[in-house]
Amino acid sequence: MHVVGARPNFMKAAPVVAAAIERGHEPTLIHTGQHYDEALSDVFFRQLHLPEPDVDLGVGSGSHASQTAALLVALEATMIERSPSKVVVYGDVNSTLAATLVATKLHIPVAHVEAGLRSFDRTMPEEINRVVTDALASDLFVTSAEGVDHLAAEGIGPSGVHLVGNPMIDTLVRFRDRLDATAIKQALGVGSRFGVVTLHRPANVDNPDRAAAIVRSLGEVASELPLVFPLHPRGKATLDAAGLHDVDGITVVEPLGYLDFMSLVAESSLVVTDSGGIQEETSILGIPCLTVRPNTERPVTITLGTNRLVEPADLPDAAQHALASPHAPADIPLWDGAAGERIAALL
Ligand code: UD1
Repeated sequence: MHVVGARPNFMKAAPVVAAAIERGHEPTLIHTGQHYDEALSDVFFRQLHLPEPDVDLGVGSGSHASQTAALLVALEATMIERSPSKVVVYGDVNSTLAATLVATKLHIPVAHVEAGLRSFDRTMPEEINRVVTDALASDLFVTSAEGVDHLAAEGIGPSGVHLVGNPMIDTLVRFRDRLDATAIKQALGVGSRFGVVTLHRPANVDNPDRAAAIVRSLGEVASELPLVFPLHPRGKATLDAAGLHDVDGITVVEPLGYLDFMSLVAESSLVVTDSGGIQEETSILGIPCLTVRPNTERPVTITLGTNRLVEPADLPDAAQHALASPHAPADIPLWDGAAGERIAALL
């Protein structure tokens, strides 16, 4: 049973589920409904050719406690009814944590795809989800070597820990030749030189002062480089209140589907983000990435890739520097398009 729930799960699960089906498994796909908007969910199922979920639990949004509680109750009933031999969870969202807790208490082994990432920042909800999931999982599929060390430091492995590479990069490799931003650039009225922005972390968008500082700095960047900003619903109210829509040079749009978004990123001159996955995708594409966070659970994107951590006030200078010093695409071991197959083989 593969459990997904939120946008960043879908591009990781697609290659694993496809490889599992090819090997003759009969996977059940559960969508928890943590994300439910067409633009955050359905479009990814269609574009990534994920099978229709066998069950959509429709859990929806809420505080951490109420969302996690609803996930636990719904997932327990589903796992009891379907009695899977193994539960496969992805990434670090609340659905990942909930599925892991439920399965473990039902004595169903859990496989965690993207195990071992650590920001060492427990103010991030995702870090709590990672630590708990990895403590309970019996198969831990790790994307890059430092993850194995993080798990070892917590007393996890070596048994059950497998360095397999990055299934999200499988999805990028699969679609890379089809990325073409011509139509979306035309629809948005964007020229040939532009940057892409995404921000949705609570630490950036839930705090009005921080959001205002970010909007001011983005305005400075946008005076040199037009920016396209697909806006996650989480940040809408605060960033609107900080005047995001009135900044010259920033085109604010609804969240984009995988193909439009990755096409824009691949043709952009610069990405500003606080996403985890986008730090990895830009490294592989060789697009300079400024991550508006004090830390990252993906340090390989800094040592081998194009990524740099910045404070909001440093964004304009960092952007100038990044634009002036282009990077080659990173070559990260096992980020080769075959991680899903390796995971399915181990499963
Ligand atoms: C979740 C993940 C985060 C991931 C992000 C990617 C957790 C703790 N966080 O954050 O790790 O990077 O997804 O998008 O699991 N909303 C909608 N439509 C939807 C879903 C949510 O409008 O389909 C709005 C609601 O107002 C909701 C808010 O977004 O309250 C936050 O949604 P939630 O699922 O709690 O977390 P994300 O911020 O999306």
